[in-house]
Amino acid sequence: MYRQQILDHYKNPRNYGELEDPDIEHVGENPMCGDTIKMFVELADDDDTIERVSFIGDGCAISQASASMLSGELRGESLSAVQEMDRDDIIDMLGVDLSPMRIKCAVLAEKVAQDGVAIHKGEDVEVTKTE
Ligand code: FES
Repeated sequence: MYRQQILDHYKNPRNYGELEDPDIEHVGENPMCGDTIKMFVELADDDDTIERVSFIGDGCAISQASASMLSGELRGESLSAVQEMDRDDIIDMLGVDLSPMRIKCAVLAEKVAQDGVAIHKGEDVEVTKTE
């Protein structure tokens, strides 16, 4: 049983849709199921503070709810704070215990956001997949 909050974010995703002129735009998939999430990020003039985040995606309740919650959490954060996040932050955010399979669903949005930030900083990123 998922918590009510996860179902709510799945059924009524926050910040769903594309941003018109994003500073960061990146897509990734969970290769186990083919589900995808694309994240869009708009930065403040300092090129570091996240002003707006949105996403589009196709997938299970956990992956989509995680993207929805993360889109709210990231607003106001710095790019380095995004890069420092780990899977425990996502599990805490979701508030449920997850099997290893489900953890791949949960961290997809985080991985997409982190790889998008890395690309923005000029780092090489191969195709984004949850591992
Ligand atoms: Fe595909 Fe969860 S089953 S991301």
